[in-house]
Amino acid sequence: MERVVATRTSAVQGAMVPFMSFLREVEAAEAERGPRLSNLAFGNPQDLPMRGYVDALQHAAEPEHKDWFAYTLSDPGAQRVVAESLRAELGLPFDPEDIAMTSGAFGALAAALLAIVDPGDEVVMNLPPWFFYEAMIVSVGGVPVKVTVDRETLDLDLGAIEAAMTPRTRAIIVNTPNNPTGRVYPPETLERLATILAAASERNGRPIWLISDEPYRKLRFYGAPFTSPLSLYPYAMMIYSYGKILLTPGQRMGYLALPPTLPERRVVRDAIMTVQVAGGWLFPNALLQHAIAELEPMTIDLSELARKRDHLVTALREIGYEVHAPEGTFYLLPRSPWADDHAFTRVLIEHDILSMPGAVMEFPGFFRLSLTASETMIDRSLPGFAAAFAHATTHPAPVSATATVGVSR
Ligand SMILES: Cc1ncc(COP(=O)(O)O)c(C=O)c1O
Repeated sequence: MERVVATRTSAVQGAMVPFMSFLREVEAAEAERGPRLSNLAFGNPQDLPMRGYVDALQHAAEPEHKDWFAYTLSDPGAQRVVAESLRAELGLPFDPEDIAMTSGAFGALAAALLAIVDPGDEVVMNLPPWFFYEAMIVSVGGVPVKVTVDRETLDLDLGAIEAAMTPRTRAIIVNTPNNPTGRVYPPETLERLATILAAASERNGRPIWLISDEPYRKLRFYGAPFTSPLSLYPYAMMIYSYGKILLTPGQRMGYLALPPTLPERRVVRDAIMTVQVAGGWLFPNALLQHAIAELEPMTIDLSELARKRDHLVTALREIGYEVHAPEGTFYLLPRSPWADDHAFTRVLIEHDILSMPGAVMEFPGFFRLSLTASETMIDRSLPGFAAAFAHATTHPAPVSATATVGVSR
């Protein structure tokens, strides 16, 4: 029987091939090497959750009225907490009604794309991207247009973005602080981007949306300054998740915020609410929304994260790796000593280190490490990083090891 699933679903699956084949490799490595494997591949917690987080959920579990666990859209109390917090953090007068509470950044991105993308509309995404942008764009009938960041500075390539604008351009996704580069885009870059988008919108006779994916916004090192694109461009949507700052990605809460400068806020906010319902209830569970006043100010230990960053960056550089110290997020993106990053990450696995090849993120020649690994894991991985580097700098990359990760698209 042919076509048991929709054509579009096959296209979405196609977009997820690199990530899914990487997951299979991870499972194989875990099965083969067992608990001695240090997992630096994913931004998952490797320690128990914060006690304060558990307490907040326990407090929120105590019902205060009969509707406590009734169907809950964006809870007005939660919207107020977020708007006030954003006002204090970014100095922008957000309207609580312009905050849509979502099932994490995933839910916010889905709602944003569902609300603004028509079939055939182009959505620009920067490489290296977060792995699911392409699949999510394709799933709403959009056409991903890929622009690679500057490989030296890891900043947005504004010339390439400008060249990518066409009459079908509907949106651009910008992720700052960036997963996986760790870059926080400077205000000058974002100002010039806003000018490019405004000019292209004018030419097209309809707005080009800037989807500002900011789930790592509060994960910045040593007070690195942050500019939200929402302060510079009105047709913008902010995407946020609590899963990063609280390191609880399995508890799904985030939001989509519209800037106070957006001209048609009422229309857009209604559209977002509608697609959240029709898209499959893209709201956080009531429990998490009740807990938000306690969760909003909470963060994982940022000084511990900075210690891990400094320790790993220094150690890798001493070994000989080229690595940029990230300004934000919990990722490092060292250059692979072999051009074939996938072959190199296999050598790391032989030394009990799991990392993510740049090939999975369409950014060959690099590999990603996550600082959510415990200090013990990081310490015990250092001799392996040294041995793998020594191997790679004294041997050519094996030809046969290249890409089962599907990077040929
Ligand atoms: C850049 C980026 N956007 C969105 C998400 C999705 O976040 P969440 O799973 O908390 O919804 C992630 C998670 O890894 C991410 O790195």
